[in-house]
Amino acid sequence: MQLTERINRIQISPTSAVIAEAEKLKSRGVDIADFGPGEPDFPTPDHIKKAAIRAIEQNFTKYTPTGGILPLREAICEWHKRELSSNYEPKECVVNVGGKHSIFNVVSVLVQQGDEVIIPAPYWVSYPDIVKYAGGTPVYVDSRPEDGFSVKASVIEKAITPKTRMVILSSPNNPTGGVIPPDEYESILAACKKHNVWLLGDECYSHFTYDPHKPYSIASPERSKDHVIIIGSMSKTFAMTGWRIGYTLAPEALVQATVKLQSQSTSNPTSIAQHAALEAMRGSMDSVPVMLAEYQKRRKRIVEGLRAIPGVTCEWPGGAFYAFPNVAAHLANGNSGHALAKDTTELAKILLDQARVALVPGDAFGAPGYLRLSYATSIERIDEGLRRLDRFFSRAEAAA
Ligand SMILES: Cc1ncc(COP(=O)(O)O)c(C=O)c1O
Repeated sequence: MQLTERINRIQISPTSAVIAEAEKLKSRGVDIADFGPGEPDFPTPDHIKKAAIRAIEQNFTKYTPTGGILPLREAICEWHKRELSSNYEPKECVVNVGGKHSIFNVVSVLVQQGDEVIIPAPYWVSYPDIVKYAGGTPVYVDSRPEDGFSVKASVIEKAITPKTRMVILSSPNNPTGGVIPPDEYESILAACKKHNVWLLGDECYSHFTYDPHKPYSIASPERSKDHVIIIGSMSKTFAMTGWRIGYTLAPEALVQATVKLQSQSTSNPTSIAQHAALEAMRGSMDSVPVMLAEYQKRRKRIVEGLRAIPGVTCEWPGGAFYAFPNVAAHLANGNSGHALAKDTTELAKILLDQARVALVPGDAFGAPGYLRLSYATSIERIDEGLRRLDRFFSRAEAAA
């Protein structure tokens, strides 16, 4: 079939591919220790679900304004101000069909052929492909494990050229859990301002940070708004992945351009989900610290468990719900004396086929030698998965 050059520039999200493969096995009754999904295993809080039911009963089931209902845009600005010390007005806010859609829209209206977009690696899988689809060129810079996978401002500034249009940062980061400390983030913003480059701050995991880190937004420093685009999402904070509500906070002209694009593509995000999101923004946030406390317990269990496996090292993630161990010692050219696979893509496949553990290869995130394990799953399943991994890697070590 003749497809466009544009669609051939991108690939299907590798995380979706892993999840699909694990689901296929599960549907055949195979018991998989599943560290694949990047979504909370908690249900959406009741008060949010009830708001959606009320919305249906009250017939909020029709088109809404393309960029989202005004009360929701107001509530997002108020919530963001209260939680993250920003200062946006509803005209600087647009509601999108999830945070991924927000990023897609923003990149579509700002990036074109010849533009460069700086993306620290390891990166969330969708950033490079969204940039490529818009015609831009991703430029990768390193964030290092010894810095807790927090990218340095000096590294970003060195990569800026006259073609640089945007820098995309996620903090806390998927896949590493890395958190950029506020002073470093502000130095990155200063570099962006100096070179007239947009700074896109992806805050989808903002409220899942572990001590000593705190939720932080690069929209909080005074006079940051000109160069800053904030992407937020209900998906992780409120366990609402399926509802598909995200938002963009940015200068009005940029917001209006994305509303124009949205008006010719998705139209408004689902009316019912918008009412649920309104409740998430205005209602109790009691469920958030409960989830965070549980993630914190699991983080300890999984990081300690991974560190105990021969040939595996693992940093403490500062936020989000992913462990990101280094297994390079077990790969070709590694130092275990017994290569299990040539790369993490092959290793992840072997782990699924032989150890019945689902996880995502670091290759997908621009991080050869690493694996991503989501700990948005119960302690029991984490323990089971760790047992399987330990058995698998220990046997390989013994055979070496
Ligand atoms: C770093 C990051 N940004 C954005 C998203 C988008 O989430 P959603 O489209 O569900 O809001 C995700 C989801 O996994 C993510 O990990």
